[in-house]
Amino acid sequence: MTVSMHAASDGFLYDQVTRHVLDLVEKGTLKPGDRAPSLRGLSKQLKVSISTVNQAYSALQDLGVLRVRPQSGYYVDGQVPQSQQAQLPRKTTNSRKPRKVRFGELFEEIFTVANDPDVVPLGAAVPATELMPVKGLLRATQRAASRHPEKALEYCFPPGNRDLRHEIARRYVDLGLSVDPDDIIVTSGCSEALALSLETVTKRGDIVAVESPTYFSVLRLIERMGLLAVEIDSDPQTGICLDALENVLETMDIKAVVGVLNFSNPIGSMMPDAAKQRLVEMLSQADVPLIEDDIYGDIHFGDQRPGIAKCYDKRGLVLTCSSFSKSIAPGYRIGWVIADRYRKDLMEWKQATSSAMCSLTQMAMADYLRSGEYDRHLVRLRSAYRLQVEKMRFMLLKHFPPGARITSPQGGFVLWVELPRGVDALELVNRALRENISLMPGMMFSATRKYRNYVRVNCGTPWDARIENAVVRLGELLREMDGENAESSSAALADG
Ligand SMILES: Cc1ncc(COP(=O)(O)O)c(C=O)c1O
Repeated sequence: MTVSMHAASDGFLYDQVTRHVLDLVEKGTLKPGDRAPSLRGLSKQLKVSISTVNQAYSALQDLGVLRVRPQSGYYVDGQVPQSQQAQLPRKTTNSRKPRKVRFGELFEEIFTVANDPDVVPLGAAVPATELMPVKGLLRATQRAASRHPEKALEYCFPPGNRDLRHEIARRYVDLGLSVDPDDIIVTSGCSEALALSLETVTKRGDIVAVESPTYFSVLRLIERMGLLAVEIDSDPQTGICLDALENVLETMDIKAVVGVLNFSNPIGSMMPDAAKQRLVEMLSQADVPLIEDDIYGDIHFGDQRPGIAKCYDKRGLVLTCSSFSKSIAPGYRIGWVIADRYRKDLMEWKQATSSAMCSLTQMAMADYLRSGEYDRHLVRLRSAYRLQVEKMRFMLLKHFPPGARITSPQGGFVLWVELPRGVDALELVNRALRENISLMPGMMFSATRKYRNYVRVNCGTPWDARIENAVVRLGELLREMDGENAESSSAALADG
């Protein structure tokens, strides 16, 4: 078979070659210890230059997938974990009972370390600033400020800066969605978009259906608003199980469904577009609004950006929330919501709670988007995130105990790790934190505090020795904990 690569306009051809070799390894066509194709051979086969293959092979060496043997060529590393697919975490199952959410202090403790430079950042899903378009955004901010210095000082009332809303609406055209800029309400990050959406469609005591595991801030909102959460079974590849959701819709008075359909946090699942359509139709029949959080949609590893549920919404029941926090600048706090039939109510909540927004950051973001730099930046960013995620996955499989199962997301930048049964992930998180390594315990992602043997790992920072040492250390901590467990059970046996 002849495979040829198409030069992406961005020049990231080596990335496709990297993916090609990774596929061969993941499918087991190339096994640990096998000789990889020669530079010349692969360059001929894929119709790319030798230097492109060379670049890909050095990325694969960085990943720990290939090793060079002097005078002999490239070989698949003997330690490469095999059968990656078989090690995905299992589909989740849930009791389908509405529950109150109680976080307590856990939330605060985890976030106090999020910005501490001494802590290795494997906890909060934070992108490294070195991956952000620092110079481009600075130039856009300077241009915006000098063009309209007075406007930058003024209040910017909801729905937000018109140019920015126009630029956001323009980006949806590529997804086949025609959005009136006036239907977009600018918010302080995706967090506020989610909060306003929930405020708008629910009242105290209502039941909200969420994917399980789910992004903890949604659970936090449910807790603070006095709502009840019902957790829906989810698949690590395709997300919310629609049959389970259908069953819940038939048996309970659900007032809203919240989901991250593209590269969910934490399981990284992506609901296929046909399933998104079925979801929207199902909710339309039941007259239930969908709050779709699309914050990771732009960070897809495949060629094509996945669609959004809003594209299938004929009745204005889908509220699409997003932000530029994972792709441009979390500190600019620019998010938005397409509120459709809920626009009026949602605007009133916005006016009542935070009134005006920062003018300068909105003007700067509009300028940055208009400059066309965002798409070029996204190509680099997606490639960086993908390599970071792949590298982390390989290293976790290498250093964690054999029973660990790890997601293999096609976008975003977090990994969800199912540790062997009986491992206390919170204990691991606490021990790691004492050594300045942050991690997210799985229980943060459940209303019922389950997922006790799971952790979420942030891959938002480029790989370096510090991260590598942290992963090695986490593996050691897990072995220490395992040893202590074995000792205490044999002591218990001796006592008994
Ligand atoms: C799924 C999801 N939604 C929303 C947010 C919050 O986004 P923002 O920082 O724009 O408020 C995050 C951040 O981690 C997230 O992972």
